[in-house]
Amino acid sequence: METKIVIAVDGYASCGKSTLAKALAAALNYIYIDTGAMYRAVTLYCIENELDIDDKEAIDAALQQIKIHFEKIHQKNTTFLNDRNVEEEIRKMYINERVSEVAAISAVRRAMVEQQRKMGKQKGVVLDGRDIGTVVFPGAELKLFMTAAINVRTQRRVDELGAKGLVVSDEEVRENLIHRDHIDSTRADSPLKLADDAIVIDNSNINPNEQLAMCLALTTQRISTFMNKPE
Ligand code: CDP
Repeated sequence: METKIVIAVDGYASCGKSTLAKALAAALNYIYIDTGAMYRAVTLYCIENELDIDDKEAIDAALQQIKIHFEKIHQKNTTFLNDRNVEEEIRKMYINERVSEVAAISAVRRAMVEQQRKMGKQKGVVLDGRDIGTVVFPGAELKLFMTAAINVRTQRRVDELGAKGLVVSDEEVRENLIHRDHIDSTRADSPLKLADDAIVIDNSNINPNEQLAMCLALTTQRISTFMNKPE
């Protein structure tokens, strides 16, 4: 039987995690799970329902009402919140501005991590996020930790938003990336940090094809190590 593994792709904001994770999943015929989209969807729910994120009871009650799932629409991974397609909405700047505060709430993390573990338990999955290799799947067979220079990350996100017709200044995007990285790295519950056994990939100067080739080679290596591991 073909050996399937769990691949964790963690790292800083807008450093190409989802580009790599999607490409890896497509090349390996694995399922791609965008865990950031789940925190974004919860954030959208909180904003639309005017929830006070410091009100623990309100957050617990909201989590009971929130159902997130993914569908492939025209080959594109699409996020649904309570059966509504929110893919476009959750990428907007007003979500970027609030998502890291919402993602720092322990009850929110507990609920999302539980779902992520269920989605990944059959293996053959690539998850992109912040705490995949450290908390969600600490036993993941391959852990990648992505990073890139802040000016490169800013330009990529400005271009990405621009392609959707959303005009934002470089400065606004840059500040948001730095701010989110700070909250994500310093929160008490499952902060963004490098797992001991993660491989760091700085993609400031490599293109998506080069990074995919590099990571596919690492995957093949990991699968063969895993298959030859004594019981
Ligand atoms: O695409 P980008 O790197 O900008 O962000 P994302 O992966 O969509 O994640 C959005 C936010 O969700 C992050 O800044 C984190 O605050 C949070 N997040 C998290 O806390 N844990 C994860 N596993 C994934 C995302």
